[in-house]
Amino acid sequence: MAYTLNHQAKHLLLLPLSLLIFFSSPCHSQSCNSLTISTTHTFTSCNQLPELSSSLHWTYNSSNSTLTFAFTAPPATSTGWIAWGINPTSTGMIGTQAILSFPHSNGSLIVHTFDISSYYPVVPSPIMFDIWGLSAEFIGHAGTLRMFGNVKLPPEMVELNQVWQVGSSVMNDSIPNKHAFGLQNLRAKGTLNLITGRTSGFGDSRIRMRNIHGVMNTVSWGILVPFGGVIARFFKAFRPADGTWFYVHVSTQLIGYSVGVAGWGTGLKLGSMSKGVKHTTHRNIGIALFSLATLQVLALFLRPKQDHKYRSYWNLYHHGVGYAVILMGIINVFEGLSILKPRKAWNYTYITFITVLAILAFSLEISTWIGARRKPKANTTTEKHYDSTSAGNGQHEEQQSLPA
Ligand SMILES: *[C@@H]1O[C@H](CO)[C@@H](O)[C@H](O)[C@H]1NC(C)=O
Ligand SMILES: *[C@@H]1O[C@H](CO)[C@@H](O)[C@H](O)[C@H]1NC(C)=O
Ligand SMILES: *[C@@H]1O[C@H](CO)[C@@H](O)[C@H](O)[C@H]1NC(C)=O
Ligand SMILES: *[C@@H]1O[C@H](CO)[C@@H](O)[C@H](O)[C@H]1NC(C)=O
Repeated sequence: MAYTLNHQAKHLLLLPLSLLIFFSSPCHSQSCNSLTISTTHTFTSCNQLPELSSSLHWTYNSSNSTLTFAFTAPPATSTGWIAWGINPTSTGMIGTQAILSFPHSNGSLIVHTFDISSYYPVVPSPIMFDIWGLSAEFIGHAGTLRMFGNVKLPPEMVELNQVWQVGSSVMNDSIPNKHAFGLQNLRAKGTLNLITGRTSGFGDSRIRMRNIHGVMNTVSWGILVPFGGVIARFFKAFRPADGTWFYVHVSTQLIGYSVGVAGWGTGLKLGSMSKGVKHTTHRNIGIALFSLATLQVLALFLRPKQDHKYRSYWNLYHHGVGYAVILMGIINVFEGLSILKPRKAWNYTYITFITVLAILAFSLEISTWIGARRKPKANTTTEKHYDSTSAGNGQHEEQQSLPA
């Protein structure tokens, strides 16, 4: 977490530059430039696949329904794996008849078939199609891998569901470890029509849900709630006698909380939709955050009257929990961003917003503090400034809870 924030903070220094360049062009590999990719391999078609910088060269012979292919992709690390497969029953990973390649620790490239029946572990196994001529090679200096093979398909299978993936490590030179769960990884699937040569991606309801979850929670916990906290500081610093701060603060926080409740619901739904995918830190912070925020809303009804002797303790408690909720909310937005991996511009926009807000909050805190230090020397007409909602003897209680 600390690492993520530090890491993000470094990116902040690049902000002006990055806004100019505005990272938006995904890097395209040049692998479909030629249909002839070696002295022995010439294909009739090549499709640049929409994710993970990968491509598929292929030739389909319809008279014996044989697909000859070469799949090209850079693995996630130099000791990682690449995989391509056909899913005859569904559109996702489960059920895919795949081939997978990775460098063995002795330096040679291994190619294995995998009949993927569970998310983890996936172990080498025969597949339901006749497949032969498997081989793999390194291409270029970038550590990109290419796998070759021939597969005999059922004659009626002219549009197939293809699934591809890259991972970062392999256990015991045989079992591929889990791949990342970024947007690109989850979108790495689609159809390939062997007659028209067209490929398409799938809209994934989980991806839509993840985006909705991300937007809702960023707006509520990441924007509205911290903003509502700063509003309270703002009024305290500049309009201490103005009682409207209370209504502005409470309504911002209640709106933030309501959106947050809905966002939290989408998180629960996502958790139940994504069996086998665990984001423990993000989930635990989410649960703690939601519990504290609920407590904070409920505590509003237990607020002692302004002149009650426990009111200063309540204020202390309210501020403590409030800051904790804001901090956890922001941390969890960054956690979420590191899972969702949206375009960098989103990260930069949020970092800018939160930095400006933090600077504002800090200066308001200082000026409230300076104001509070000056007050005791001031005359009675300005004494009201200790607390905006204070009336009469409430001031006395408030003084004890002022940060000094
Ligand atoms: C397709 O396969 C058949 C049967 O093996 C063969 O006779 C024919 O030449 C092949 N067509 C092409 C274009 O390779
Ligand atoms: C189909 O034909 C191609 C091209 O002639 C050949 O390479 C392939 O082995 C054939 N498939 C089968 C299943 O015999
Ligand atoms: C590396 O190990 C694999 C799997 O045990 C084996 O098939 C291959 O021949 C080995 N290569 C070298 C160069 O030893
Ligand atoms: C990996 O290899 C080690 C040593 O050969 C063995 O003890 C261990 O059980 C293997 N792990 C798996 C998951 O196969």
